[in-house]
Amino acid sequence: MLKMEAEDIKKIAVLGAGVVGNSWVANFIWKGYPVNLWLYTGEEEESAKQSIEKHLEGLADNSIFRKEEIPQMLELVTYTTYIEDAVKDVEFIQEAMIEDLEVKQKYLTEIDTYAKPEAIYASSTSYLLISEIAKFSNLSKRCIGAHPFNPPHLIPLVEITIPEGNKGSVKSAEIAKEFYESIGKVPILLKKDVPGFVANQIQKAVSEKCSELLENEVCTVEDIDKAVSFGPGLRWATMGPYLIFQLGGGADGIKGLTLHIGKANLEDKSEEAVKELEVYADFIQGEVDKEMENRSPEFGRTNESLRMFRDKLLIKILKEHKKI
Ligand SMILES: NC(=O)c1ccc[n+]([C@@H]2O[C@H](COP(=O)([O-])OP(=O)(O)OC[C@H]3O[C@@H](n4cnc5c(N)ncnc54)[C@H](O)[C@@H]3O)[C@@H](O)[C@H]2O)c1
Repeated sequence: MLKMEAEDIKKIAVLGAGVVGNSWVANFIWKGYPVNLWLYTGEEEESAKQSIEKHLEGLADNSIFRKEEIPQMLELVTYTTYIEDAVKDVEFIQEAMIEDLEVKQKYLTEIDTYAKPEAIYASSTSYLLISEIAKFSNLSKRCIGAHPFNPPHLIPLVEITIPEGNKGSVKSAEIAKEFYESIGKVPILLKKDVPGFVANQIQKAVSEKCSELLENEVCTVEDIDKAVSFGPGLRWATMGPYLIFQLGGGADGIKGLTLHIGKANLEDKSEEAVKELEVYADFIQGEVDKEMENRSPEFGRTNESLRMFRDKLLIKILKEHKKI
């Protein structure tokens, strides 16, 4: 069991200075954490500095903090090409190296040698399994998958997984979850270690459907982009698909919508199939009710307050698109 809590995280190592690594660094230093940024080659230092500064400028330009605060934030970064120097004095390691299993496995064995035993190793991998990445680690209980969404300094979602069957990692996952929450992220802890986590599996399904529509010459690429961003994507920016369906069902909620649309579309109209649909409708309504109860009132937790919250956000986004 790790002898550490989220508040013991005082310093962070980010490994990899690419698209994701630099954005993570911007996020951590904005929140006041000193960061050791590990560079694959020393030549990356200049581009990393520029990229991190641009991310911070974007936040300052949008009044998240004052521009004058940026130099102080940038001083929190130490650049190094040595893994030992990057990880030896930190409590949290956010790995963002290229998506290559052998590379991640190799560096993890070095991390085992040099990092404090209680330091958490969080891989940003998009599709690899943490079970595989941590396979040769002596300290796999400190290893978690922690998949961000690009750009991590803006998108709150972080999907957390633990190596299959490794109960010791649960504590690491809980600490990481608390830590990410403390810096404004929205972490979700998956029950299984699956390739592509949740969000990339959803994205993959959407992207496969887009390709199918193009192949069948149903519409153009531009039409698909419009259909997603001015249709479901716009709504999903306000809340997830289940809450959207809850509102789609009016006073009858998602149960009503499921029964209404579901029954109309049932291929098998047998009594058994209808019964199955009804059981599912009850189940999904129960889950959505629980989700609504967990929401803070300011974001809507009844049908009416949810609807108002959705519409307020939709109007804000539509104004930016000059569509309202
Ligand atoms: N780009 C995204 O949208 C995105 C989103 C979420 C997660 N991720 C994940 O984040 C990680 C980094 O992705 P990225 O998009 O920042 O990639 P990137 O190519 O921009 O950066 C990768 C970093 O790894 C370094 N590198 C290259 N070869 C290496 C080697 N042999 N050994 C060690 N390091 C090497 C590069 O120099 C660079 O610093 C990947 O695991 C990826 O799956 C990416």
